Amino acid sequence: MEDMGFNIATNNFNTGDSVLEIIYLLASAMFIVGLKMLSRPDTARRGNLIAAAGMSLAILATIILHRKDGEPIGNVGWIVAAIIAGTAIGWAIALRVKMTAMPQLVSFFNGMGGAAAAVISLIEFSEINHSAAESDGVAGGYVLAILLALVIGSVSFSGSMVAFGKLDGRINDIRAGWLSYVNTALLVVLAAFIVLIMNSSGTPATLTAFMYILFAISLIYGVLFVMPIGGADMPVVISLLNSFTGVAAAMGGFLYGNQVMLTGGILVGSAGTILTILMCRAMNRSLLNVIIGAFGGGTGATGYTECLAREAGISDAAIQLSYSRKVVIVPGYGLAVARAQHACHDLDKLLTEKGVEVKYAIHPVAGRMPGHMNVLLAEADVPYSKLVESDEINPQLPDTDVVIVVGANDVVNPAAEDDRSSPIFGMPIIKARDAKSIIVVKRGMGKGYAAIDNFLFCHPKTRMLFGDAKEILERLVSEVKSV
Ligand code: TAP
Repeated sequence: MEDMGFNIATNNFNTGDSVLEIIYLLASAMFIVGLKMLSRPDTARRGNLIAAAGMSLAILATIILHRKDGEPIGNVGWIVAAIIAGTAIGWAIALRVKMTAMPQLVSFFNGMGGAAAAVISLIEFSEINHSAAESDGVAGGYVLAILLALVIGSVSFSGSMVAFGKLDGRINDIRAGWLSYVNTALLVVLAAFIVLIMNSSGTPATLTAFMYILFAISLIYGVLFVMPIGGADMPVVISLLNSFTGVAAAMGGFLYGNQVMLTGGILVGSAGTILTILMCRAMNRSLLNVIIGAFGGGTGATGYTECLAREAGISDAAIQLSYSRKVVIVPGYGLAVARAQHACHDLDKLLTEKGVEVKYAIHPVAGRMPGHMNVLLAEADVPYSKLVESDEINPQLPDTDVVIVVGANDVVNPAAEDDRSSPIFGMPIIKARDAKSIIVVKRGMGKGYAAIDNFLFCHPKTRMLFGDAKEILERLVSEVKSV
């Protein structure tokens, strides 16, 4: 009987373990399906929910079914309390955040992921440090994974916090040439510390001290690494930090032998890496160029004293649009600020009814987050087929009667093509100036994210419609109705 009892207990243990593995597999599949659905505006919301449900399932199953040395996990009360507190805080922040502040929020949440990976490494290291003191050491690969997760997670945390501050306008770029030397030196020091810790035969106390020094240097490196990058290069940094967090989480999955954490981390890491590559291409920069080049936020071309912007009247603009054959709308960050997407679609529908061909030119870094314009326009039910990427729309612009730039600035700035000294030189733009005429809707002569002047606004073909984008578009709609 005793034998049987033992067998039954073992069977129960194995069954629980297998169920957990199957649930992890299911959760991983939900992450993949969710991620795939994020690639289309009409399925993105459902994709997000599916991935979130996968994560909830994995967490719940871990709490209930996970066993370590046959024992269920402890501190369940604390874990549940932390989950409830985290969910409540995240929920409240997400409900209150404005659409235009989304990138800051994403950066902040990404930083939290990095911090979690770093904390996991610190805890794991203290555990193996003690067991190594009692036994004959631990495997080198395992320690390396812990150290790398600590470094990458910490860099991602502090870097994301600086990115958050920059996107929120609280931190300015520091673009000193010496920073790239300091950063390179810090990278060497980090590598040296990793080698030192892996080969040290010091006491647990010494190793713990080394570990905390590594942690501190990584945090400093994260700050200094993001500090000089700014302006138009921020999208690259944000996606790079995102991929760092994914890699750090994947290492956590490796440390715990937890497949779902590994899969989740790999998905975030690889998606972030792909996005980084795409963003680099969109900005026409190499990654190394972005990291050590310290562009962005620069002074660039100046000289508005010579730049005379000409204003248009609303009714003139409405007549010009109504009698056009082809109109291209270039939406930018200002469209998001003004929440003018519905008014923009109303104008589009009205012009289309009048027989005008209307398209939207979508620049990959317009707005403040990848796909920002696509999301906004999808919210206003603009058909996806009307959105055309820069490469495709540029050759059509010479044949376009009116380009109407709504709250965009950097993405139409000709300095990217003309001015070698400009921080955005080389960045592909929407070549609005190639169109037969240009209407620009913005509040004043304010600069864009890269903080540089834009001579498109004083181009002989350009007429300005000054005011809030929503208000101007609504006025245009009512004028076009009466043409
Ligand atoms: P920006 O260059 O930032 O220009 C936006 C313009 O909108 C401003 O010049 C502003 O001029 C105008 N504006 C603001 N509020 C407005 C309102 N209520 N009504 C009308 N106009 C308004 O935008 P962009 O052309 O979309 O370029 C995006 C920039 O952000 C790029 O430099 C990009 O690198 C950077 N960035 C992008 C991302 C991603 S992933 N998309 C992430 C971080 C940074 P006024 O003040 O005169 O109105």
